[in-house]
Amino acid sequence: MGTLKQLRTQVGIVGAGPAGLTLARLLERQGVDAVVLEDRSRDYVEHRIRAGVLEQGSVDLLVEAGVAERMKREGAVHEGIELQFAGERHRIALSELTGGHSIVVYGQTEVVKDLINARISSGGPLLFDVDDVHLSDIASDAPKVTFRHGGEAFELSCDIVAGCDGYHGPCRAAVPQGALRSYERDYPFAWLGILAAVAPSNDELVYAHHESGFALLSMRTPQLSRLYVQCRPNDDLANWPDERIWEQLQLRLGLPGWNLAEGLVLEKGITPMRSLVYEPMQHGSLYLAGDACHIVPPTGAKGLNLALHDVKVLAEAVVEFYRSRSRKWLEGYSERCLRRVWRAEHFSWWMTSMLHRPADGNEFEIKLQLAQLRYIVSSLAAATSLAENYVGLPTV
Ligand code: FAD
Ligand code: DHB
Repeated sequence: MGTLKQLRTQVGIVGAGPAGLTLARLLERQGVDAVVLEDRSRDYVEHRIRAGVLEQGSVDLLVEAGVAERMKREGAVHEGIELQFAGERHRIALSELTGGHSIVVYGQTEVVKDLINARISSGGPLLFDVDDVHLSDIASDAPKVTFRHGGEAFELSCDIVAGCDGYHGPCRAAVPQGALRSYERDYPFAWLGILAAVAPSNDELVYAHHESGFALLSMRTPQLSRLYVQCRPNDDLANWPDERIWEQLQLRLGLPGWNLAEGLVLEKGITPMRSLVYEPMQHGSLYLAGDACHIVPPTGAKGLNLALHDVKVLAEAVVEFYRSRSRKWLEGYSERCLRRVWRAEHFSWWMTSMLHRPADGNEFEIKLQLAQLRYIVSSLAAATSLAENYVGLPTV
């Protein structure tokens, strides 16, 4: 391997997604050093289209991290969402039902760009295009991360490693077999998502239950729509030419007297649906956060928000460790996160189950879905339950 160049930091962060970048920023504000390692290019990370809905708590965290200026200008505050089923649309008044809470529509790509800009302006180490990231000594209090960058090999000595490397990253895999337990559920459907150059046809998000399958109308900016249709789990994009996507969106979202405007499709992709939790979210001096240790199906938009909550808790524990040299807070990290994780797992599973066409077309299940949707739009208690989960519950 040749000579390893030695580096040293307090917290080694693997992954420059929302979790890793936010953690680096929160630590930097508290005087804790970190090095962020990302295997993709900056351009790739900044243009990977994913989530778009931020809970109030996530907005507050980005404000606290000092990266919210553009979000405040360009993000759109939404005080309600719409549920559509049986040919009718019903508004869930999120803010009225939750004592004034709302959500902000601002793309994950934009959050990531703001965080990268902040990191680069402050001069904090953030390396893109790294290869061969490998963790060692995580059972000790002197873990190491080796990697290659720009043709050279490095060894980064740390006190703590934060695994913010998403579902496919190497951090979770560094934990010895049997030390983590996984809980998992697969769904017999997926989402095909598009970004389209057309003004959103509705002011608020529309979640539609339809006999041809679920559809979602969302948006990014006043000129950009984000739309999804339920498809098969192993579906191929080749089965979905733009005309078929618009035809299905028109069918599933259409209402008499309402028009879904079409536009140029700028991006399309298929997102698999899965529920998955690894417990505990830590091992030795490795702490996992975000998609590295839990996945939710996208219905309800919880993935990004959970990742941000994890790193808020982790940053507090790390800061407390350096302040007091006590590991007590770090030891409680997983337990503090998992309650919220499981609440979000339940909500995402529940929204997914209620809104998607069962793969076998089971009519009993469809009747149950419709009964539940009718209950939500006719009972203040049921609507409040959906609303408080959607805008984000306080940490329980
Ligand atoms: P990630 O964003 O996955 O970041 C992990 C980072 O680690 C990445 O930058 C990755 O390149 C890097 N990495 C991986 N391996 C290595 C390595 N070996 N070395 C160094 N770095 C590495 N949520 C919603 O709420 N709504 C949505 O519509 C939605 N759509 C999604 C679509 C897709 C295709 C996916 C995968 C997720 C989607 N999500 C959605 C979920 C949401 O985007 C995630 O929950 C969120 O990105 C989690 O952030 P994270 O920082 O934990 O992980
Ligand atoms: C979006 C994604 C979601 O999963 C969701 O529930 C709402 C909106 C989006 O990408 O805009």
